[in-house]
Amino acid sequence: MTDQIKTHEPGAPKAPSKKDSPAGKCLMSRRKFLLSSGLASATVIVTLNPGTSVAAKVPAEVATYPRKKIAKLSELKDDVPVEFEYPDKGEYAQSMLVKLGTEAGGGIGPQKDVVAFNSFCTHQGGDLAGSYKGETKSMGACPLHLSTYDLTRHGILISGQAYQSLPQVLLELDGDDIYAVGVFGLIYGRYDNLQG
Ligand code: FES
Repeated sequence: MTDQIKTHEPGAPKAPSKKDSPAGKCLMSRRKFLLSSGLASATVIVTLNPGTSVAAKVPAEVATYPRKKIAKLSELKDDVPVEFEYPDKGEYAQSMLVKLGTEAGGGIGPQKDVVAFNSFCTHQGGDLAGSYKGETKSMGACPLHLSTYDLTRHGILISGQAYQSLPQVLLELDGDDIYAVGVFGLIYGRYDNLQG
């Protein structure tokens, strides 16, 4: 159970802890990696063994998605993709944002038609960059085994070998600025979206 969340911006000073000891080297290295990657972290208080005589509240540090500005709404043109990297600059981070010109699941803007997706096929990682098709509002066909994804419906598979939807990059609009704030679905080649 989560009782309380405190966020730490990248680079914020923090008191030394047990994790700084040689025994905690692995955890510390991961934290350093996250902070140097521009990712924020949060301290979450969790309850272990809730409802039992040995219940205990302990702090746990978890990574949170960065908020990254990727485009201006006023500069987008229908069916012209904008490429960017998210949530970091690691492997398989390449993504694309596009104004579809038609309302879409997860779309933002006045027409709810601006969406963004990771650019790697969920089957075996085929590179889908440059495969957007305005006529069908789709990504693909994948150069490896022809999977095609529907960008109006959260990247669901239209045809091909894949069995998972294309990961959708979650967007927020702040005035004219478009921010990436998360990813829905697992990016190919990662067991955790925040580890490149
Ligand atoms: S890698 Fe894309 S369909 Fe197999």
